Amino acid sequence: MLVIKPARIAPSILAADFAHLGDDVARVARHIDFLHVDVMDGHFVPNISLGMPVIESLRAVTDLKFDCHLMTLNPDAYLEDLKTAGGDLATVHVEVFPDPTGVAAIAREFGLEFGLAINPPTPFEAIEPFIEIADMVVVMAVHPGFGGQGFIDTVLPKIERVRKFIDSAGLSTDIEVDGGIDDTTIRSARDAGADVFVAGTSVFRAPDPVAAVQGLRTAIGE
Ligand code: DX5
Ligand code: ZN
Repeated sequence: MLVIKPARIAPSILAADFAHLGDDVARVARHIDFLHVDVMDGHFVPNISLGMPVIESLRAVTDLKFDCHLMTLNPDAYLEDLKTAGGDLATVHVEVFPDPTGVAAIAREFGLEFGLAINPPTPFEAIEPFIEIADMVVVMAVHPGFGGQGFIDTVLPKIERVRKFIDSAGLSTDIEVDGGIDDTTIRSARDAGADVFVAGTSVFRAPDPVAAVQGLRTAIGE
């Protein structure tokens, strides 16, 4: 029997106010499911964001699950540090690891859940053989590197294919969609089969971030 999981909202702190990060997280904490943490190294993507010291400081002030999106060239070298800092799930890109079997094993060895991300231009076939080793598949709906970009709706058929694969294999893998999620785009991603929704700009840059999270749930009738 197919079990449709409830939608989970994972705001990205990339869009929060880094001078008041703890306050921004505390404001929404009771209303969200995970915290999405975008780590960028200036090499895999043309931007630098935050790293272990920030994650460690945040861990001291919240029990939220940290869904850490590693947009870096050598994430495997930092997985132990990520776990020590307080990370729960580590997502790496299939563009960095065309065969992610080894890095998935390292993540698990350190007690992290494993996520596998795929960029908009990369075809479904690149992740297909590895879906079963992931706890979460992350379908990027923007080119990684920056918040505030528009949702690329040509990724919807890819979400549908991941959904179909997971359901027919009887897996319980989460499907996260990352980038450009707001109350006008979340519905199509939900209909395509996503169940975890990253929202940076539409939550943390909203005048009322709690209302923005509720607006996302309302937009998909949850
Ligand atoms: C993009 C990041 C996303 C981004 C989402 O590189 O991986 O997580 O922060 O932000 P919005 O919701 O603004 O597209
Ligand atoms: Zn992300």
